[in-house]
Amino acid sequence: MDDLKRPILPGKGASDYERYLRTDELLALQKQREELLHQDELTFQVVHQSSELLMKGAAFELERAHDLIVESDFANAGRLLRRANQMLEYPISLLHVLETITPYDYHLIRAGLGHGSGLDSPGFLALLHTGTSLGKVFYEQVHRAQLTLDDLYRRHAEFFGLHDVAERLLDFDERMHLFRFHHLKLAQRIIGGGVVGTMGTPVEVLHQRMEHLLYKELWDVRNQITAKASADMKERGVPSQY
Ligand code: HEM
Repeated sequence: MDDLKRPILPGKGASDYERYLRTDELLALQKQREELLHQDELTFQVVHQSSELLMKGAAFELERAHDLIVESDFANAGRLLRRANQMLEYPISLLHVLETITPYDYHLIRAGLGHGSGLDSPGFLALLHTGTSLGKVFYEQVHRAQLTLDDLYRRHAEFFGLHDVAERLLDFDERMHLFRFHHLKLAQRIIGGGVVGTMGTPVEVLHQRMEHLLYKELWDVRNQITAKASADMKERGVPSQY
């Protein structure tokens, strides 16, 4: 029994758990208590570091999904896209943890951030980068199957795998949008929305970036489908609001 407790993996740490996860190093990546500019700073660091890790994990799965789409293995691509999307739920919810920091306390923390800006977040940049490449290979496959997006949605049962990929990409785009939305609200709560009408204030930058969609065509195809359905209903004399 004692034998089973003794670590067998190489590295630092009293147990294999600590050695495998490298908890010594991981838990030394935050400021020491005496270095904190405010007691809330540990939460600030933990939320940011956790989000970076989760975004790294999600971007890794998106890259794998990218390669599977190229190989036309849509079922496994869908599985990994689902996993990535599930992972992204957490950076979104973690933003709400930071809503508990009050503006005066935040400015004490901010004094130690140097020129640090979320625009340089490696995790978020990796998601944007991989997300763009994913779109390209997805549209290539739609093209290869000689379909329009409208066809893909109409014949979804026939092209189940590719349609599933389309819907998971839409989930991903929605999560990126939700991250940006809740992040904008967080910034507005903590540092304020900035002077109305002045271009280039940090929070306005966030507003502008909210407009960005990775897969605009996938959102737009809904408009076409609704327009067609409405025209069809009109032709048949069915009253409709939309
Ligand atoms: C107190 C909390 C936070 C405040 C006040 C805040 C504020 C800001 C501001 C003002 C910007 C605009 C660019 C700039 O001026 O630097 C920005 C960008 C950004 N921040 Fe934060 N942020 C906070 C927390 C977070 C967290 C927890 C993350 C998670 C990693 C994050 C990720 C980002 C990203 C990815 C951008 C670029 C957004 C985009 O491209 O749309 N921020 N943040």
